[in-house]
Amino acid sequence: MVNMNDSPTPMPKLDLGPEDNAFAQGGNRLCFIHPDDPVKCVKTLRKDRLPELKQKEKGLKGRLRKRSSFDDNQQEYSTFLRIADLYGPSALKFIPRCYGMVATNHGPGLVTDLIRDFDGAISMTLKQYVWIHGDTPRVKNCIAAFQQSWESIGLPSRNLLLHNIVVQLSAPDVICRLVVIDGLGWADVLPFGWWSRTLARAKAARKAERLNEAIEALLDIRRTNGEWGYHGWMEPAQRYAGVGERPASEQEK
Ligand SMILES: Nc1ncnc2c1ncn2[C@@H]1O[C@H](COP(=O)(O)OP(=O)(O)OP(=O)(O)O)[C@@H](O)[C@H]1O
Ligand SMILES: [Mg+2]
Repeated sequence: MVNMNDSPTPMPKLDLGPEDNAFAQGGNRLCFIHPDDPVKCVKTLRKDRLPELKQKEKGLKGRLRKRSSFDDNQQEYSTFLRIADLYGPSALKFIPRCYGMVATNHGPGLVTDLIRDFDGAISMTLKQYVWIHGDTPRVKNCIAAFQQSWESIGLPSRNLLLHNIVVQLSAPDVICRLVVIDGLGWADVLPFGWWSRTLARAKAARKAERLNEAIEALLDIRRTNGEWGYHGWMEPAQRYAGVGERPASEQEK
């Protein structure tokens, strides 16, 4: 018999360690390796980018929107659920699998696959890959194949940004897939793409096509010795954290 005076035991929080344990951070979130499973990633909101702060920044316009719409983790979680429901396993070649939300010492954390290369390194962003290797025929072929599949499935995304896509390698310099790790979902006020697959495909095609311009723009910056910018770079020490011995070629970089 349940004693109504018993308060439910709270679930212990997943301890991610201090903030600087994060292997990467974006403009909104900190990304940690799951302490119990090194092929999973836990994302928490940055303390300076909490939904209430973001809502305040937007002034009156912000107050007209629900606070949860400023929570990147909640938004992404519902998008993952919706994609799984509508698109099934075909989407999982291009996006990480999502395992839900957990309580952590840094607030609610979204758990997804952590994309790693053949040698255990956390895969680098497309932005970093292109910056280092240029748009080689291999990269071009891979992007073309990605664009075709992204369009034919009609996957929902905001503009596809080079720092929100990672390049997974199955052997040195062999790209097995591009994975979109952030920026999923339709950004429209009335997101009809969720209800019409034809519209979704047309929108997905436009987003995917724009990758070519983004790559050109990045290579222009590199050619003119411009600034890398804030997003998407990971040092080998971050990419190989906890992997042990790393290849000599990576140690030199
Ligand atoms: N599942 C993953 N697998 C591998 N690397 C990842 C994964 N998720 C995130 N990363 C790395 O962490 C970085 C930051 O993650 P993410 O883009 O999710 O943060 P964010 O704060 O939401 O970004 P933004 O600034 O675009 O809002 C990425 O650029 C990527 O290098
Ligand atoms: Mg991002």
